[in-house]
Amino acid sequence: MTNLNKKQAYTITRSDREKMHQHRSFLIWFTGLSGSGKSTIANLLEKNLHEQKIHTYTLDGDNLRRGLTKELKFSKEDRNENLRRTAEVAKLFIDAGTVVIAAFISPYINMREQIKEIVGEENYLEVFVNTPLEVCEQRDVKGLYKKARTGEIKNFTGISAPYETPINPFVEIDTLKETPEQAVQKILSLIKRILI
Ligand code: ADX
Repeated sequence: MTNLNKKQAYTITRSDREKMHQHRSFLIWFTGLSGSGKSTIANLLEKNLHEQKIHTYTLDGDNLRRGLTKELKFSKEDRNENLRRTAEVAKLFIDAGTVVIAAFISPYINMREQIKEIVGEENYLEVFVNTPLEVCEQRDVKGLYKKARTGEIKNFTGISAPYETPINPFVEIDTLKETPEQAVQKILSLIKRILI
């Protein structure tokens, strides 16, 4: 697609905003099965960063699907569009000098690659929340796995749709061995050098 409009240049840049915030901006992208613990860890991470006076914003699949991506379902194409829009929003927040936290199943490797491309590789930190399917299914916090098994919900990740495991994530959390608090500490220790 060609866009004939020239990009408008604005005086205040990302770097100006980062300077004012006194920290860098980037995207921390959580991927994992439904019920793996993405939102729990993302929430704790944001709380901790906020207490350190870091400017944050969290994008969550369950929440964005109530507005920005309301009309989208769970076919591969719809998930891709869901994630493309989310990545574009994340890009704006990064430009605004904000540390963006995102929690989405984001099951396809090539889609996660596209997110990285949209926001820029240097701004993308992938966190794989690794919880075995059996455990997610047993917990079944939202009762969706049960519905997926009976066929009431189609294209359900892990049951009737794939989840492609990240090959080389920035951080991997083994939720069977690490508590959410430990996971957050691990992420914080790794982003410390990038933040300032
Ligand atoms: S993604 O695949 O497009 O990244 P997203 O993270 O936005 O998914 O939404 C996942 C949430 O939608 C799940 O946590 C679950 O609550 C709900 N959901 C409803 N139907 C499905 C489905 N078919 N597959 C996965 N999650 C579903």
